[in-house]
Amino acid sequence: MTTGKITDVRAREIVDCRGWPTVQADVYVDGRLQGRADVPAGRSTGAHEAHVLHDGDPKRYRGLGVRRAVANVEGPIRDALTGFDVTQQRQLDATLVQLDGTPDKQRLGANAILGVSLAAARAGAAVSGIPLYRYLNPFARVLPVPLMNFLNGGKLTANELEIQEFIIMPVGADDYAHALAMTTEINEHLRELVVAKYGILATNTGDEGGFATPMKGIWEPLEFLQKAVESAGYAAGFGEDVVFALDCAASHFYDPQAKRYTLDGKAYDRNELIDLYRRVAVKYPLASIEDPLDQEDFEGFAAVTKALPQAQIVGDDLFVTNVARLRMGIEAGAANAMLFKVNQIGSLTEAFDAAEYAYRYGYGVQVSERSGETEDALISDLVVALNSGQIKTGMPVRGERTSKHNRLLQIEEELGGVARYAGHAFRRPR
Ligand code: PGA
Ligand code: ZN
Repeated sequence: MTTGKITDVRAREIVDCRGWPTVQADVYVDGRLQGRADVPAGRSTGAHEAHVLHDGDPKRYRGLGVRRAVANVEGPIRDALTGFDVTQQRQLDATLVQLDGTPDKQRLGANAILGVSLAAARAGAAVSGIPLYRYLNPFARVLPVPLMNFLNGGKLTANELEIQEFIIMPVGADDYAHALAMTTEINEHLRELVVAKYGILATNTGDEGGFATPMKGIWEPLEFLQKAVESAGYAAGFGEDVVFALDCAASHFYDPQAKRYTLDGKAYDRNELIDLYRRVAVKYPLASIEDPLDQEDFEGFAAVTKALPQAQIVGDDLFVTNVARLRMGIEAGAANAMLFKVNQIGSLTEAFDAAEYAYRYGYGVQVSERSGETEDALISDLVVALNSGQIKTGMPVRGERTSKHNRLLQIEEELGGVARYAGHAFRRPR
């Protein structure tokens, strides 16, 4: 019999897919290791994200070490949680938030707090004897549509493409397994098209596994996606096999002084950029656009949401999985979906609260990887627990991305007849 009481909390410094240090946390219940979780990290981060505590010692990892965060886990956090009932996730997270006491978790570090928060959820599921997705939601059953970012630019590559992610969503797949097969088929055709025009070097990949080609602007990448889809024998269009999406991460090609965005050497003001998106949406089935404008421009987000009624507008750097920012967005009519990244806010309960808040106001929720991931596939359980219908977790070509896709295959199999692939209804599958 387990008492469910936490008896120890430990942590260590590990590396993510860039070789950068991050926190791995362990939660012990009744003397046994029951939950372990790794903390992901962004590169194309929003200005309002919770604080990642780095050591700042230039002699180790050029200042990026996380030994101080590890010490916070094994010091004040362990002291606060020893004897705690591991299944009381909400109280546990509230205790950690209070213990930190700062609005952005800068004292203990969001990386320290999140690692323990996620490891505790895993431990709670383990002592309850059920998978994490079911532990978090007994009605979990929706397998998400994956947003596959075939072509990468922005901060996630070393090319000159400003827009960060050119995405295909296999909405017409029968199930998750089929969505993965379609992805690889299309990607192999895309590879051939890229090699034919730019040579083999252009098939090197970015942080999230999409090709990092010398393409520029917005039109050429979409043309390549369209051709690859057709060569693979599929149709792109609303109600068809696949639709397209973008993560513009527009803050990263915006100059706040000049109030101008620069794409392929051309300057755009806010309205010109919205007009460009509108023209793209006439030519291509653009079902979702993340961060089309600068992260501070709630008014512009409201305008783009109105201007593109067919597309989902997703706030990533805009909302940073933060209820307070989301509330500002809802009041302004900015966007209609929230990107969900647990480490932007720094605890599981706060991230789930943000998702619930989004649902309450009719906003969609898109669960997302970070560009800096480990092989930990925890977000796959989260997306199913949220029945959110959409996940962005990279191309299935690198271990830290395949772990998530493969975990979703396991969940799909486990759920059996209960599983439902979100498909065309990805914005509102619940
Ligand atoms: P990040 O990039 O994880 O580096 O922030 C991903 C994104 O912008 O969605
Ligand atoms: Zn983004």
